[in-house]
Amino acid sequence: MPMTGGDSDLPNVSEAPLIIDVEFSEEEGEVSEQRFEEIEEVSSPSPARPMDLPFSLPTPRGRARVITVTNQKGGVGKTTTVINIAAQLALRGHRVLVVDSDSQGNCATGLGVDKSKVRTTTRDLILFPETAVDSRHATAVDNLHIIVGDRSLIGLEQEMLRQLGRERRMKEALEPLLSHYDVVLIDTPPSLGLVTINSLVASDGVLIPVQTEYFALEGLALLSGTIREVRSLLNDRIGVDGVLLTMHSQNLLNKQVAGELLENFPELVISPAIRRNVRLAEAPSHGVPIHLHDPSSAGGKDYQAVTNVLEQRWGLA
Ligand SMILES: Nc1ncnc2c1ncn2[C@@H]1O[C@H](COP(=O)(O)OP(=O)(O)OP(=O)(O)O)[C@@H](O)[C@H]1O
Ligand SMILES: [Mg+2]
Repeated sequence: MPMTGGDSDLPNVSEAPLIIDVEFSEEEGEVSEQRFEEIEEVSSPSPARPMDLPFSLPTPRGRARVITVTNQKGGVGKTTTVINIAAQLALRGHRVLVVDSDSQGNCATGLGVDKSKVRTTTRDLILFPETAVDSRHATAVDNLHIIVGDRSLIGLEQEMLRQLGRERRMKEALEPLLSHYDVVLIDTPPSLGLVTINSLVASDGVLIPVQTEYFALEGLALLSGTIREVRSLLNDRIGVDGVLLTMHSQNLLNKQVAGELLENFPELVISPAIRRNVRLAEAPSHGVPIHLHDPSSAGGKDYQAVTNVLEQRWGLA
């Protein structure tokens, strides 16, 4: 029925099953800790659907391990994780390539690269795979190279729709580089579009940063469906390398969500969690990773510890 004129033209809204029964009160004033706990009693942060995150396989000999850092939820620490794990690995002597497939282009800024001066970007990598070797740029960190993402990635998915083999462009492009690096880390936009699918098809493993908040679990269920689909149709090697808890605090909800994740994926959740730490948020404004900005901060220590775990998992130690 068309929605014209006033309210009387609107059809009735459909009934949806409600999962939380909260009584609204007229009372005003600060919400105390106790009220927060009362609400917790009627609502559980458990995901509605069962999740299945498949494990990844070891890296084939003589090739870089390719890892997509992804979560379609925005602002969960994907880019911060790519920058700081890449920098930590490079500092330890591993040859690392960061591929930024997000049009926001934050990896370049966070690694001190002026993206306005860069001619070849991830857009070229995907559209013209033969340009891969020339798309790389040095960063302020030795052993760490980057293929820059920038606004030219906006609209790329539309352009790709006309291309044959559109899901495999990035895989094809990265292939000749793999024997020259130990690790390739791909940062993704907050979406599960064609560019993210390209990253997953090109990868051995997925690293999933998860902010320990209520919606995290719903988001993870959606992502697990995408990973399973990519695995069955496009890349049977792909699996999950780890779930990284980010911006973690010691409040009740954070602890409860972390507990749920640990219970569901005891082998995948990486310990320690990355604590919420302002030094991590400041570092990109100086164009440096946390190990150059403040290595002894909580964020610096957490990313070092997480890199230790990943070095083992990726067979780099
Ligand atoms: N552990 C942390 N403590 C405090 N701030 C953090 C932490 N991790 C990331 N941040 C900040 O939170 C914001 C979002 O982080 P980031 O850009 O890494 O997320 P993202 O998942 O890449 O976002 P998007 O989905 O937009 O690409 C940034 O301002 C970043 O500096
Ligand atoms: Mg990002």
